[in-house]
Amino acid sequence: MTKPSKPQLKALRQRRRQLMRQMGRGSIAILAAQKVCTRNRDVEHPYRQSSDFLYLTGFAEPEAVAVLIPGRPQGEYILFCRARDAEKETWHGRRAGQRGAVEDYGADDSFPIDDLDEILPGLMEERQRVYACLGLDTGFDQRLMGWVNQLREKIRIGVHPPHEFVSLEYLLHEMRLMKSDLEIELMRQAAQITTQAHIRAMQVCQPGMLEYAIEAELLHEFRRHGAHPAYPSIVGGGANGCILHYHENDAELRDGDLLLIDAGCEVAGYASDITRTFPVNGRFSSVQRDLYECVLSAQEAAIAQVKPGNHWDDPHTAAVRALTKGLIELGLLKGRLNNLIKRGAYRSYYMHRTGHWLGLDVHDVGDYKIEDQWRVFEPGMVLTVEPGIYIPASHKDAPKPFHNIGIRIEDDVRVTASGHEVLTAGCPKTVSEIEALIYSR
Ligand code: GLY
Ligand code: MN
Ligand code: MN
Repeated sequence: MTKPSKPQLKALRQRRRQLMRQMGRGSIAILAAQKVCTRNRDVEHPYRQSSDFLYLTGFAEPEAVAVLIPGRPQGEYILFCRARDAEKETWHGRRAGQRGAVEDYGADDSFPIDDLDEILPGLMEERQRVYACLGLDTGFDQRLMGWVNQLREKIRIGVHPPHEFVSLEYLLHEMRLMKSDLEIELMRQAAQITTQAHIRAMQVCQPGMLEYAIEAELLHEFRRHGAHPAYPSIVGGGANGCILHYHENDAELRDGDLLLIDAGCEVAGYASDITRTFPVNGRFSSVQRDLYECVLSAQEAAIAQVKPGNHWDDPHTAAVRALTKGLIELGLLKGRLNNLIKRGAYRSYYMHRTGHWLGLDVHDVGDYKIEDQWRVFEPGMVLTVEPGIYIPASHKDAPKPFHNIGIRIEDDVRVTASGHEVLTAGCPKTVSEIEALIYSR
């Protein structure tokens, strides 16, 4: 990941200040970078910094600990990170080092990560409250308690160890839920690249291709723009489109089947998450079209509910109503609309909810309820809207012509002051847009 630009550095500083204001004097926040994860023997999984760490520091290297100490005269933001080391950098890549941490990442001070055990207890002295993400990494939790215990041993010489431990996520995730203009701009870039990737997939898809060949086209589009997948791409033809988290991506795409692609990239850590479903041969059959129109009308009804003042469950309620109505019209559900909704009859066709928050994590942080009430939409929130219908051959009620059809349509939607903006609006979605695109290739 590239070094933060000047506006990004300013935004990072503002976030840290906002957090420290809420933490108050007498407190310290300690946040560890994501651990490196071994894949097999000497090979590691590609490293992705923890989203909380990225949000506060913009620092993408492993083996780092960020410390925030509101009101500390010598500097409020200290970044522990790997020291420069010519030999190690020859093998494993460049490091910012202590100088880079200060000059390029805005730390007030920086120490080698190897000195953490020696320095950190001193920074915690006289702080009553420790803000940390406890429970994520038991090894780090134990180290933290070790530092506290070191201070406890010095009580008789007048040292005051911290005595309150507070979840850092509680404050941080509320901040992350509300996206700034700068964050929205990155999400817009991710949405545009992802849109191009889906268009490319529609353009190259032919009967007889393998699902992984389409996955490669998506990846090509992500990487040629410097982006990475935000999650493993789902490329499922026919029956595979009915498996919600299908990842094998190794089947042949058949003439007459639909192809469901759920894929998105991240830019500077900010995710996009798009699903499109289209015919492998470029033309929807009449049954596929009827079901597709049903999902599309549910998605449009759900998106229309995204506006300030409405609450988190409103899009889902609208989607469920539209899907149930459509399923009745297609003869797949029998009974009265309200009764069917009440008893959740749609669940054998639509078994997930209509979306999630989107941001640095594809399933982003932020509460969905405040106490026992659904959260009310506010400008700056970003969510996905993604209803679907899934009818595997094993479905006990659906007639044969509906079998092996899985359809999901997913867009990324920002709440604005007056309503919403669909960040992924450029991605073809109607039957005529999709057929026209495939036939123009
Ligand atoms: N791509 C994951 C999801 O749609 O939730
Ligand atoms: Mn999603
Ligand atoms: Mn998705």
